[in-house]
Amino acid sequence: MPKISVGRSDEDREEYGLEGTGIIGKHLVGENQEAHTANPVYFDLATPHVVGVFGKRGTGKSYSLGTLAEEIQASDLGDNLSTVIIDPMGIYWSMKHPNNRSISLLDDWDQKPEAMDAKVYIPEGKTDEMEEKEIPYDDTFTLNPGEFSAQEWSMAFKIDLNSERGILLERVLSNLEDRKGTDYSLDDIINTIKKFEFPKETKEGLINRFMSAKDWGVFGKESSIDKFTQRGELSVVDVSVFGELASGWSVRSLIVGLMAKRILRKRMTARRVEEIKEMDNIVENEMPITWMLIDEAHEFLPATGETPASGPLMKWVKIGREPGVSLVLATQQPAKLDPDALSQCDIILSHRLTAKQDINSLGEIMQSYMRHDIGHYIDALPDRAGTGLILDDNSERIYPIQMRPRKSWHAGGTPDAFEE
Ligand SMILES: Nc1ncnc2c1ncn2[C@@H]1O[C@H](COP(=O)(O)OP(=O)(O)O)[C@@H](O)[C@H]1O
Ligand SMILES: [Mg+2]
Repeated sequence: MPKISVGRSDEDREEYGLEGTGIIGKHLVGENQEAHTANPVYFDLATPHVVGVFGKRGTGKSYSLGTLAEEIQASDLGDNLSTVIIDPMGIYWSMKHPNNRSISLLDDWDQKPEAMDAKVYIPEGKTDEMEEKEIPYDDTFTLNPGEFSAQEWSMAFKIDLNSERGILLERVLSNLEDRKGTDYSLDDIINTIKKFEFPKETKEGLINRFMSAKDWGVFGKESSIDKFTQRGELSVVDVSVFGELASGWSVRSLIVGLMAKRILRKRMTARRVEEIKEMDNIVENEMPITWMLIDEAHEFLPATGETPASGPLMKWVKIGREPGVSLVLATQQPAKLDPDALSQCDIILSHRLTAKQDINSLGEIMQSYMRHDIGHYIDALPDRAGTGLILDDNSERIYPIQMRPRKSWHAGGTPDAFEE
């Protein structure tokens, strides 16, 4: 039996074999109750991908995201990679612990519980809250307000740029930019708004938004987010603390948008240097190839509307191949994910889905090599945690899979306010 590898074209398979892959699970053979696990499924980590992880609530999306992160960490390419998990529910800190809950299950897979060397980052102003909740973290981060455009703020605040408030916002920011470049604080913004001759309500409305942004606890002098992409490291960016805020998803999107922009820019520069070095046969990369894993991705890259993260993430999706950035988007409702992003996924891991519109949205992509309707494949999956379908555009194949048990602790699976 030939080995199953996902994300690798036949040519790459011939040239590299299984180097730079990780085992994410086993091929499921047979249908429903009769299904049993067969050959391991290898997953390509060496080249950039856009991966969709789907499935209704409780079917294993967050768990599988963690499995992918574990494989990247364990990979023979580990030092040339870095992994960032965007964690809107605050569940991935548990990867620092071994999965002692599943010793016997792991044993069936010839695996042992293993703690990951993950670094958990939280917004600087939220340390008290995290300590209260007894959630461990390693370091904090801040964003520099001077790095956001009027358009990004307007998306975060849901202000129409053509409205009075929007116009004021643009003028204030361009005034600040002229005077200070990108070096200004929320207080500078608020003080500048006060100086403009605009109707009182317009000014107050805008000031209120920036006052509330102070409570987000994420703004500081500089954007200290470059530490998320260190060589060989797994960074968990815990953005769950904004859960109570009405504007929670806006803040999260500002963070993710800025990160995505920065990482892409740095990788594009690094790629040029690497190419020059490659000509001299030097193999270490300038900056690690970055994998960004986003849970609840439809909140950042929605089918309708735009967030401050939509543009930067779409750029990853569209041109990420060349500079070498990979994106993994997990959501329980693929139909709610930007359809352009969905159609650009070259690998899909779909756990069980039942909503017709979600099944249909999957059916629309990768049709050409499916022998049956997508619903047929999904119906044949046994009703067990961690089973799913892999649709691989690179090899043009479809595989039922049983995802492997996690080596590190998974803190999800408990009810939370975010899903459905
Ligand atoms: N591959 C797997 N092997 C064993 N158990 C799994 C697997 N995937 C998921 N589970 C179980 O299912 C539960 C729900 O998975 P989770 O990923 O949190 O769901 P969601 O799809 O809502 O993100 C997990 O807590 C775990 O107990
Ligand atoms: Mg989940």
